[in-house]
Amino acid sequence: QDSSLAVTERLQQVCDLLQKEVPSYDWVGFYFKNGDREELKLGPYAGDPTDHTIIPFGKGICGQVALSNENFVVPDVAAQDNYIACSIHVKAEIVIPIFVDGVNIGQLDIDSHTPDPFSEADERFLEYICKELAHIL
Ligand code: SME
Repeated sequence: QDSSLAVTERLQQVCDLLQKEVPSYDWVGFYFKNGDREELKLGPYAGDPTDHTIIPFGKGICGQVALSNENFVVPDVAAQDNYIACSIHVKAEIVIPIFVDGVNIGQLDIDSHTPDPFSEADERFLEYICKELAHIL
């Protein structure tokens, strides 16, 4: 479908731009609820390929955000019990849920190779992006 292709391309552009322009954003990707299943499916991303293309709700940082509907900022991934490692280089992670008509339909996930790089300004900035993107999803 033309329209869904356009959405995928736009999401890809957002990933590429954020990963290129923000030095601490080493991996930038979207996960979306996989149909009726209680799991997330990887969408467009920029950075190293990951094996974690499907993540069950509740598993890892992403799976927890699928249930909590809240931002999850992880300054040090080594301190997390429920964490799915995508790369040994990753030190920190931030996940921001995306709401369409009040429903958590997916999330923006960013990994950093820098320890503790995410500030409240990052949260507000990424929330803004997710809110704008909700209009095209
Ligand atoms: N670290 C995530 C898994 C996704 S990768 O970062 C791309 C998690 O714990 O949910």
